[in-house]
Amino acid sequence: MQVVSFSKLGQIGLITIDNPPVNALSQAVRAGLKEAVTQGIADSDVKAMVVICAGRTFAAGADIREFETGMKEPFLPPVLSLIENSDKPVIAALHGTALGGGMELALGCHFRVAVGKAKIGLPEVKLGILPGAGGTQRLPRLIGAEAALKMIAEGNPISASQAKTWGAVDEIIEGDLKEGAIAFAEKVLAEKRPLRRASQLTAKVDDPDLFERYTSSIAVKQRGFLAPFNCIKAVRAATELPFEQGVERERALFLELVNSPQSKAQRHVFFSEREVTKIPGLPGDTPIRDIQSIGVIGAGAMGVGIALCCANVGIPVVLLEMNQENLDRGLAVIRKTYAGSVGKGRLKQEDMDRRLALITPTLSYGDLSNADLVIEAVFEDLAVKKEVFSQLDTVCKPGAILATNTSYLNLNEIAAFTRRPQDVVGMHFFSPANVMKLLENVRGDKTAPDVLATAQAIGKKLGKLPVMVGVCPGFVGNRMFMPRLRESFFLLEEGASPQQIDQAMFDFGFPMGPLATADMAGLDIAWRHRKVNYEQLTPREQACNLLDKICELGRYGQKTGAGIYRYDERRNAAPDPLIEDLIVKHSAERGVTRRNISDQEILERCLYVMINEGAKILEEGVAARPLDIDMIWVFGYGFPVYRGGPMFYADQLGLATVYEALLRYQEQLGAEFWKPAPLLEKLAKEGKGFY
Ligand code: CAA
Repeated sequence: MQVVSFSKLGQIGLITIDNPPVNALSQAVRAGLKEAVTQGIADSDVKAMVVICAGRTFAAGADIREFETGMKEPFLPPVLSLIENSDKPVIAALHGTALGGGMELALGCHFRVAVGKAKIGLPEVKLGILPGAGGTQRLPRLIGAEAALKMIAEGNPISASQAKTWGAVDEIIEGDLKEGAIAFAEKVLAEKRPLRRASQLTAKVDDPDLFERYTSSIAVKQRGFLAPFNCIKAVRAATELPFEQGVERERALFLELVNSPQSKAQRHVFFSEREVTKIPGLPGDTPIRDIQSIGVIGAGAMGVGIALCCANVGIPVVLLEMNQENLDRGLAVIRKTYAGSVGKGRLKQEDMDRRLALITPTLSYGDLSNADLVIEAVFEDLAVKKEVFSQLDTVCKPGAILATNTSYLNLNEIAAFTRRPQDVVGMHFFSPANVMKLLENVRGDKTAPDVLATAQAIGKKLGKLPVMVGVCPGFVGNRMFMPRLRESFFLLEEGASPQQIDQAMFDFGFPMGPLATADMAGLDIAWRHRKVNYEQLTPREQACNLLDKICELGRYGQKTGAGIYRYDERRNAAPDPLIEDLIVKHSAERGVTRRNISDQEILERCLYVMINEGAKILEEGVAARPLDIDMIWVFGYGFPVYRGGPMFYADQLGLATVYEALLRYQEQLGAEFWKPAPLLEKLAKEGKGFY
């Protein structure tokens, strides 16, 4: 297939890129562009050229897969130089998303026109790299260093009108883009407009402290990432060096990143995020049930969050509670949340009113009779779930999907409370449900294929990243969270402090450590879980009863102002001598001699125990692929994006390294906690990875 074509419309040469789905600038496209531009330059009948793309978008960047296989010539920068050095005007005609190398192509042209809806940006930083085809040098010269810096280091696209204001776009085209772009080219020729070569402009910096100020402003948000800081260096070079030298600097900074583990991890996340929503073995054309209205049961924090998600995307919700007081409280939270967004200027008052009008409160199950999907978010107790699902079985219409938000209970048992287990599915939202992106959908043994497909589709519609998992206690996320918490308590008992454990995990890249997370989630939840499962615990787990001791003091974490840490009214954590004392006494009572524990041991014990559990999860088929586990941990539990998720990270370490450490800890701490999963052992011995 020819991915770039050249045609003539009078004196205008039209270069069309047609490389679906997103016109990525693959080797074939670069070669085609080079040939077409050369042809246009050589053809004396051609006086100007327009570069345009077929399909849904202007080029959305380099072909990211080529970073893995290695780029082949021609490279993009010389093709862009060819365009820029042409004496005939070249105009880029933008629609859809002109991103990355696509935007760099546009910057290499002398003029840019765009449809009003086009978006333009340099999102490379989100892949752990920087624009490597002159973008960091041309954009600051075109729109000034400050605006370019923000675009390049943060990676968010801007609208066509914003680009016009800043000078990155010359004209917004109303109506047909091709006609508009050709008319613009004719105008350039008629007016004999001088060619505007971005490389020959000067990058303006108004504020001499711009780069220092900006670097410190992103220090917290971009902690741990390499790429944003290299982006800053590259833009700075545009303000200090001639173009050619700036491009060399950009190249060096780009190469530093493109082969880094960080960028590999971020590219892995890019593709996995798209792959994960597809269920292996389920045909892509599986029919989807029509969801026009949703019922939510329970107006606690979870139910409220789910109701907000539905109303946010325009789906009517019936919110059911058992008593008026709880219902009123839930509705008040909903109103407060929206009012907060209005106050911050993120939501218009009329949108708040529209969303509120979509939520119908009720105390009667009968009002769920028309719902296409009901999501239950009531107390985590099988007897309570039985009551709810028996009622739903009676009142819901045939074909309605009955979903549970349970985070631990057995979905198959819940489904068996109904006469329609094929319609029952798990939809495990993460708190706060209106904010967290992850949605763990759970397939029961009898869940129908179209229910699975619908759960994924509605998850996406609600703005979530839906990942399908199988039934087991805690599913994927919480099942891996629990052994990490167990190790954290063991480490406390053996000599570590809460701050040391949390700091080690924070430095690894988590937004907070496991103990601070437990405080945030509520220690009472883990405590309750511990009590319910007490008989199944190993003797050491039973004896390591720090959680009991802390909770017995009424310290349930952030919500009670104290847990493992103490909290002020703004929920800032501080170490508590009382807890430190309690831990030291606990070790003494248990006859454990406290020792110095290295950060490396903390990291290994907290992370490898998860990786080992992940391997068991894969073996059992609870997660279909390692990428499902990785996306759950990146999008639901704050695993650093630049490490790609626990399974990808394990591969980067090398499974042999992980396996050897597991054997060491098995020796030190016992096989009941550290026996390597057979899959991990097998892969390590074969020198393979999870991927
Ligand atoms: N390279 C390879 N494949 C790409 C791609 C790219 N740049 N961009 C998208 N795709 C693939 C996706 O993986 C997806 O494949 P599957 O259908 O097999 O899953 C398909 O194209 C469609 O993509 P989306 O599902 O994401 O479609 P969308 O309409 O929701 O979004 C988009 C379209 C906004 C362009 C989005 O795909 C996107 O953000 N793409 C990446 C843009 C980007 O980061 N560009 C910079 C690349 S790096 C670069 O250009 C470096 C340089 O300096 C030269």
